[in-house]
Order: sequence, then C-alpha cells, then structure tokens
Amino acid sequence: MKAVLLTNHGGPEMLRYGETADPVAGPGEVVVDIHAASVNGADYKVRRGKGRYLLNKFPHILGRDFSGVVSAVGAGVNDLKVGDAVFGVTDVGQEGAYAEKIAIKAAIVAKKPASLSHTEAAALGLISLTALTAIEDTLHLQAGQTILIQGGAGGVAGFAVQLAKHLGCKVISTASAANLAYVRGLGADQVIDYNAQDFTTIGPICDAVFDTVGGDAVRAGSYKVLKPGGKLAWISPAEGEARADVETLRPDVKRDRAHLERMLALVAAGAVKPPAIAHYKLADAIEAHRISEARHLRGKLVFDVR
Ligand SMILES: NC(=O)c1ccc[n+]([C@@H]2O[C@H](COP(=O)([O-])OP(=O)(O)OC[C@H]3O[C@@H](n4cnc5c(N)ncnc54)[C@H](OP(=O)(O)O)[C@@H]3O)[C@@H](O)[C@H]2O)c1
Repeated sequence: MKAVLLTNHGGPEMLRYGETADPVAGPGEVVVDIHAASVNGADYKVRRGKGRYLLNKFPHILGRDFSGVVSAVGAGVNDLKVGDAVFGVTDVGQEGAYAEKIAIKAAIVAKKPASLSHTEAAALGLISLTALTAIEDTLHLQAGQTILIQGGAGGVAGFAVQLAKHLGCKVISTASAANLAYVRGLGADQVIDYNAQDFTTIGPICDAVFDTVGGDAVRAGSYKVLKPGGKLAWISPAEGEARADVETLRPDVKRDRAHLERMLALVAAGAVKPPAIAHYKLADAIEAHRISEARHLRGKLVFDVR
C-alpha cells in the first residue's frame, strides 16, 4: 500500500510518501481501507520526537484519525463485516492512519452514518473525543455556566464551543481577526480578537476555562478570568504556577466507541457540525505538516486518501 513514512525525527522533510506492506487483521481487529485521514497537533509533535513523543523504530506511520471501509475481519470480530463503512481513532500508543489501510481493534471503531462523508468523519474523530472528555467528563459543564474556550478556530476548541453552547452555557472564545466570524458561527456568544484585546479584561467571570492553546501567557491569563472555585482543563502545555483556589485538570481522553457514538448523536441532533476542512493528498503530507505546525489553521486538515 501507499503510506506517508516518517523516516526519522526532525522537520517535515522527514516525511516520505512511499510503499509499505499491507497490514493484516489480528485477532479482534479489522483492516480498514482508508478513504480519509486527518492531521492532529500530536502528529508534528511525534515527528519532532521530543520527550514522551520519542520513537525507537523507523519508518513510522503517523496519523490517528481515519474513515474508510472494512476490507478484512480478524478472528473473534462479530459486530463488523467486510464492506461496513467505519471510522475511528487509533488506540493510545498506536498510529498509522496516513496510509491506504490500517489494522485496528474492532471494539474502538464506530459505524459511519451515510449522512457524514468519510472526510467529515475523519475530521471529527479525535477532536470530538477530546472536546467531549474535556467539557462533559472533566469540567462537567452545566447549563447557565460561563466558559472561556481558548483558540475557538482550532479543531478541538471549535467542537467544544458548539458543545458548550448546546449544553446551555455562555461561551466566550478567543481567535485572530480572520477567524472571529467563523467562531461566532459556531455559536460563541463573544469572540475576543486576542491580538487586539487583552482577553483578561473580561474579569473573573468564568466558571470554567478550556485551554487548547497553551503557553505561559495564555495559561496565566486563563487563570485570571476564573471565579474562585472554578475549573481549568488544558490539553496544550504551559509552565508556571497553577492558581490555588481553582481546579486544574488534564482530560484523560479515551479512544472508545461510546464517545464516538455520543458525537454521532450530537451531529445527528444538529447540535454540532463538522469543522472547516482543508483538503490534501497523502503525497502532500510535508505541506500539511507545515500548515499544522504553524498553528493558525481553521478547523482540520484532511487527507483524501482514495
Ligand atoms: N488528548 C489530548 O490531550 C489532545 C487531543 C487533541 C489535541 N491536543 C492538543 O491540543 C492542541 C489544540 O489542537 P487543535 O488540533 O484543536 O488545534 P491547533 O491546530 O493546535 O490550533 C489551531 C488554532 O489555534 C488558534 N490559536 C493559535 N494561537 C492562539 C492564541 N494565542 N489564542 C487563541 N487562539 C490561538 C488558531 O486560530 P487563529 O489563527 O485564529 O489564531 C488555530 O485555529 C494542540 O496542542 C494539540 O496537540 C491534545
């Protein structure tokens, strides 16, 4: 099969579009012929290889989100069959979606409804699991609460803005000037142009903050807008002191079918729509990584694989 091979840690030029062996379905697994795969922030972090992202074997195939059609079924798989349209997110410690095929544990993939394209399903996987885990399972956001969601134009934050609004919250978000209308369109009540206004001038009015941007300045400011007893959930790191009178929480994102199906229910109910999507081919992975790494993408980068 064709795949994007990470030949060593380093810059985007370490990615090579080439040929590798087809995967085989082990017990409890299916092989999915991938139609679309998406790029996540984690992908360039693994490519760089710092800290916990260090790999010990190359070539390595990056990629966590995929959507496609089951082409082989391993022993013991009873709930999926060849020809089923499915999508999912690779298990913790596994990657391999920048490819024409992937072998994956059947229990963690979900059936793709016809109402979502493969591109949309691949775009929604990890961002939805992350936003659902942060907003519902970690912050336990309730109707009537106020939340600041940092970086509303990003994949995870864009899903979180819609979800928090659906739950009945007042949603404040941050974005650059070019993305203000996009984030308002996702349902945010107030979008602050972080280049033009210091977002901390809203004062300590928030019950919760979801920081998807990270970095010291954004994190320090995020603590300032919380009420005493508030909660901050983060998915992008920062140094510096946490505020003692609020809870600082790291969402523990599970890659499971139940959360994918919760996302599908929200999409079917019209509560959440897929993000803005920029289309790429696997052969253009180097360019896709350059854009992802610059961290000003609106929505998601998706590879149209076949
Ligand atoms: N399980 C996990 O823990 C988990 C899962 C998924 C993602 N993540 C991490 O979460 C982070 C977010 O990922 P993502 O894919 O959703 O988005 P991303 O691609 O990292 O972020 C892009 C967005 O960030 C916005 N942005 C950049 N600087 C900003 C600033 N100073 N203030 C406000 N917005 C800013 C950009 O909008 P503008 O152009 O408008 O600035 C852009 O839309 C990444 O670090 C990723 O690795 C963690």
